[in-house]
Amino acid sequence: MSEQQSQQPNGYSNGTSANGTSANGTSANSHRNGNGNSHGENSRPQPSKPMSSSFSPRFAQIVGWGYHVPEKIITNFDLEQIVDTQDEWIRSRTGIEERHVAAAPGETSATLGIQAGRAALEMADVHPNKVDLIICATSSPEHIFPSTASIIQDGLGATNAGAFDLSAACSGFVYALSMARGHILAGDAEYVLVIGAETLSRIVDWTDRSTCVLFGDGAGAVLVAASDVPGGITATVLGSDGSGADLLTVPAGGSAMPTSLETVSSGGHYIKMDGTAVFRFATRVMAEATRQVLAKAGLGIEDVDLVIPHQANVRIIQNSVLKQLKIPEEKVFINLQKYGNTSTASIPIALCEAIEAGRIKPGDNLVFVGFGAGLTWAACSIKWSVPVAKPDETWWHNTQRQATYQAAAARSMWKRAIRRVYSQFPAKKD
Ligand code: ACO
Repeated sequence: MSEQQSQQPNGYSNGTSANGTSANGTSANSHRNGNGNSHGENSRPQPSKPMSSSFSPRFAQIVGWGYHVPEKIITNFDLEQIVDTQDEWIRSRTGIEERHVAAAPGETSATLGIQAGRAALEMADVHPNKVDLIICATSSPEHIFPSTASIIQDGLGATNAGAFDLSAACSGFVYALSMARGHILAGDAEYVLVIGAETLSRIVDWTDRSTCVLFGDGAGAVLVAASDVPGGITATVLGSDGSGADLLTVPAGGSAMPTSLETVSSGGHYIKMDGTAVFRFATRVMAEATRQVLAKAGLGIEDVDLVIPHQANVRIIQNSVLKQLKIPEEKVFINLQKYGNTSTASIPIALCEAIEAGRIKPGDNLVFVGFGAGLTWAACSIKWSVPVAKPDETWWHNTQRQATYQAAAARSMWKRAIRRVYSQFPAKKD
């Protein structure tokens, strides 16, 4: 039985069926808002009230989305100047034409994540202090600790949010969506901000042609909200096979091989990959995970409106989603030619671009599916239930928002200053 079906016996007090259509035939969203208006913040599903004693069904809806990529672009032709490679080789073997790279030293996974997070909150018109939890999936965190998510939390001024990083390599964003859904369905959170943020250019060996041509930097974010509108993230599948841990790894810098002169001089802090083995694994699990998640959601391949796969290599997508699952090209979103493999950021960036391109509308069945180091894989099925038009922006709204960001920066500086003052006093020891 699918997860959606299993929720039905609890009853939809509002007369709405599990497929997001109400008894009178209106969409889940217009049912909730009663006006069918596809513009402005009022048409977005607002979070349901915190769970009370009487049971009301909860759903985890994506209500905001945004992305940010560094300005600097490195084309395949630029790479020809750095390593022994050719544009033709990279395009025909991977589909990648260019990638964005964090060139400014101040541009980090957290700063990209903050920009993407702000964009997602703006899209949903939700103030940062409403966020309960920030999950940052990243393969290139700022530090082993503190978490990149905590730095993002401070930068956003999300003063009421818990924050943690999630490490599942390129599958991380879908893993994080699954965590967000769990928190929301359990009643532990009303808003969870899920971010995929990467500066892989900092851990790539720019002399290794077999890896440096593949990766790019960027961040994407979605705001997941508790809602009584049926749909949203309806099913998830997570997988791991640690026997393949050595196939894709950054060997040094952790507790197994602490950073030393030797690890640095041998390049142990860079990405090492057995490309062929990862390719074989990826084509198998992408198809399998998609099948599994659709079965869990009670859907067939023919019900899928759009697949947003992890954007690593166009041949992996062709061999898995297109050939094995026989999903037609027009139902698969691909943008890796512009960004390369941005790991955890690839699916949320692709989601934003798919929305911009008019490829997603309320009522659509989406599948996100990814794979990565670990080895890991993950898929989720989504019944898209919110309008995709950007809310109207007034100058006043915009001014308020800028003031919020400045207040967050000022608050952070103030707290640091206070801590510095306190550190001058001897600690009180009883
Ligand atoms: N330019 C020119 N030639 C190259 C390059 C390059 N950039 N890189 C490798 N070659 C050469 C190789 O040296 C090899 O030469 P040889 O035959 O003389 O030995 C030849 O090209 C073929 O190499 P293969 O590795 O067989 O090429 P393949 O078709 O398998 O493509 C690739 C390599 C693109 C890396 C592919 O295996 C792949 O995409 N694998 C999956 C990688 C991936 O997605 N990783 C990310 C996972 S997500 C995460 O968690 C971060």
